[in-house]
Amino acid sequence: MTSPRSVIGRILPPSAVWEEAFDDSAASELFPEEEAVTRGAAPQRVSEFRTVRRCSRQALEKLGVPPAAILPGPRREPRWPSGIVGSLTHCEGYRAAAVARCHDFAALGIDAEPHLPLPAGLLPKVARPEELVRLAQLTARYPTVHWDRLTFSAKESVYKAWSPLAQSWLGFHDAALIIHPLRRTFHARLYAAGCVLDGRPLMAMTGRWTVEGSLIGTSVAVDAPVTALPHGAATTAAPPHSAICRS
Ligand SMILES: CC(C)(COP(=O)(O)OP(=O)(O)OC[C@H]1O[C@@H](n2cnc3c(N)ncnc32)[C@H](O)[C@@H]1OP(=O)(O)O)[C@@H](O)C(=O)NCCC(=O)NCCS
Repeated sequence: MTSPRSVIGRILPPSAVWEEAFDDSAASELFPEEEAVTRGAAPQRVSEFRTVRRCSRQALEKLGVPPAAILPGPRREPRWPSGIVGSLTHCEGYRAAAVARCHDFAALGIDAEPHLPLPAGLLPKVARPEELVRLAQLTARYPTVHWDRLTFSAKESVYKAWSPLAQSWLGFHDAALIIHPLRRTFHARLYAAGCVLDGRPLMAMTGRWTVEGSLIGTSVAVDAPVTALPHGAATTAAPPHSAICRS
């Protein structure tokens, strides 16, 4: 597998910070409570867990946040220190963490996948009928990109942003993507209720994608509600912030 210089860094907004690794060779210490989470796991799982936690702490350091244990929440979502949102991904040959401040984003989602076709038969489970039509058109026009795998990855990014906000499940058919092949962006229309931001249901997310070497990367960033802006910048009272951001 070729190792490009950066995958996730190409598709994150400027106020998010990130760290990535293409192998597990660097020393990566865990907090005891993190060790406890990985007890009994397969060696490869322990390795990716260690590396992505190191990436997380290095990314947090860029925001001036001291090292902290990143433990899974009730839906396996990473639980970030107070005032931080973020997302993790790992696949063969790649691990990455992205974090940002709650007053910049309500949620982040990142995902990486090998740039290979999805296993046979999986696409109809991932894409809605109207997306299958669009994906066939993309494949005919731009056959070098594995649009099926890219769709899968983009939807996993959507889920990683959705889940901590809504605290609920989102199935693959609960979102429909329109992928822009030249701008390398995507728009996700959401068909599930359960998440309200700024007093309005969250019905869409936007994201970015890239193909770098043998990897696909996707990201989603949900803007923070206006009411989550730092003190003095907001025009209305602060929201029940714990709904979107641990404090
Ligand atoms: C959770 C899920 C997206 C993880 O994706 P994956 O390809 O298996 O694994 P990745 O390596 O890219 O990501 C794993 C990381 O995702 C994060 N994650 C897991 N569950 C999560 C959740 N509910 N919310 C946010 N992040 C989550 C974790 O940080 C995990 O890393 P860790 O276990 O080391 O902490 C996937 O297993 C899943 O359940 N998908 C079905 C739901 C979905 O994608 N719906 C599409 C809606 S349009």
